[in-house]
Amino acid sequence: MAEYFTFTEIEQVAQAIRKRLPFIPRVGLILGSGLGGLAAAVRDASVIPYTEIPRWPVSTVVGHEGRLVAGELESQKVLVMQGRVHYYEGYSMAEVTLPIRVMQRLGIEILMVTNAAGAVNPDFNPGMVMLIVDHLNLIGMGGLSPLRGPNLDEFGARFPDMGRAYDRELCALTRRVALEKSIHLYEGVYAGLAGPSFETPADLRFLRGIGVDAVGMSTVPEVTVARHGGTRVLGLSGISNKANLDGNTLTTHEEVLEAGHKIVPQLEALVRGVLSRI
Ligand code: HPA
Repeated sequence: MAEYFTFTEIEQVAQAIRKRLPFIPRVGLILGSGLGGLAAAVRDASVIPYTEIPRWPVSTVVGHEGRLVAGELESQKVLVMQGRVHYYEGYSMAEVTLPIRVMQRLGIEILMVTNAAGAVNPDFNPGMVMLIVDHLNLIGMGGLSPLRGPNLDEFGARFPDMGRAYDRELCALTRRVALEKSIHLYEGVYAGLAGPSFETPADLRFLRGIGVDAVGMSTVPEVTVARHGGTRVLGLSGISNKANLDGNTLTTHEEVLEAGHKIVPQLEALVRGVLSRI
């Protein structure tokens, strides 16, 4: 397992993909659990299975297809990651975030990141979409930062600012698109945990108390690396289940995937609307 990647190693991976891309992508789009269906909307797609890319981490989780789809969506050149890996699968933080580094080398300016998340906010229900306005880096506070190790000066500073992790203009644009398309867009703070176990009722009371609206097992490391490299970020959570605050219900991966069917059309409308205006 690689603990860190050098700039040269990252560039080698980028070069392997660059050779197979018909264009320089402007936008990277990561599709989370149960949300991979969005890739079907991409036109004139070139598809690269993750297994054909050197060093690229391959997901072991059901609901993550594992391929890169390059093509056009709303006339924008997009590079779609249909499936991602998580820290709990056994990958290092550097491996979890290697795709972000590679997309940065390939030229993306904007990263749109989606995930499936559990509702901690009691007003949230499965099937809703939440605009991520900020995150709680709980996984990183414990020391699991993808930026640990030698700083990659070619990408950014040793101590990157995270005051505006989620781009304000992109947030404002997404709100406008939601309004125009009559999509109920909720907003909130996403907390990133390591998983893979879901939370106990005590975990959830704690998360609620510290201002969390939705909880998941991804996104935060990717956004941290994106911002380190100066990439603008838009984050959207598909709420897949209610967090089990009272311990009386069960949270399952199946229900997480099921909610995706309701979420994908809303995400597609939002992503298309934003892409057509940037
Ligand atoms: N908790 C953590 N991660 C998740 C959840 C949850 O309830 N739902 C989807 N991902």
